[in-house]
Amino acid sequence: MEWIGLNQLRTAFFDFFKNKGHMLLGSYPLVPKNDNSLLLINSGMAPMKNWFLGKETPPSRRIVTCQKCIRTPDIDLVGQTARHGTFFEMLGNFSFGDYFKHEATKWAWEFVTCVLKMPQNKLYVTVYENDDETYNIWKNDIGISEDHISRLGKEDNFWEIGSGPCGPCSEIYFDRGEKFGCGRKNCGPGCECDRFVEFWNLVFSQFDNDGNGTYTRMKNPNIDTGMGLERLACIIQGVDNLFEVDTIREILAHVCEIAEVRYGESLKNDVSIRIITGI
Ligand code: GLY
Repeated sequence: MEWIGLNQLRTAFFDFFKNKGHMLLGSYPLVPKNDNSLLLINSGMAPMKNWFLGKETPPSRRIVTCQKCIRTPDIDLVGQTARHGTFFEMLGNFSFGDYFKHEATKWAWEFVTCVLKMPQNKLYVTVYENDDETYNIWKNDIGISEDHISRLGKEDNFWEIGSGPCGPCSEIYFDRGEKFGCGRKNCGPGCECDRFVEFWNLVFSQFDNDGNGTYTRMKNPNIDTGMGLERLACIIQGVDNLFEVDTIREILAHVCEIAEVRYGESLKNDVSIRIITGI
């Protein structure tokens, strides 16, 4: 696998999906417009909810973006570890009643194996427990061996954040190798240890969740994918933490320069430097 810079990864994703007929849109602001269910934008699909729900018409039925996002559940850990942050960029390709599972899976596989040249033996996929259709696409159409496909439950393979469009999903994982693993017999995608890293989530967005647990089938099934750019960069650049990714290292160096401190010399300062860099 070749080293690729974070900015080049973003461009490669845009070019790939533009060639597949997608319209490139810029990132929406982090503060949502007309959406009381969210304080901050937390995923590529969040600013597009009305397009998924058919309440408004998107400018194209195929869209590609890199959305600035903030997720805060682990905010107390930012700085304490070398992997937590709150701000990140999310790459996504979206279909509004256009293509569905076949194209979404085939193109995701083509991007990771042909463009990024990830070794196939290190890639694993998961599907929602009763989603035989997606299981068979991975196995028969893409040719993934069954020991690299697993079925997981709602916690892992059903995507929703708050209210709005949601559905079963299929995730792609990268195996970082035994040295990152817990060594348990059943260690595999979905395990809590650091070996299998989930990096791309393909959501088969079919339901509208009213936020109180009522799921209404949407008029059209849609595709919503999300791939964290920094997490992808960690895999491609062969580093284990966010702060070693090329662009983020530069931000960290700038923080050190203006604060007149050195990274790696004092635990207390390192925590502060990481907080300023990672939030
Ligand atoms: N909307 C898909 C994701 O954020 O993973």
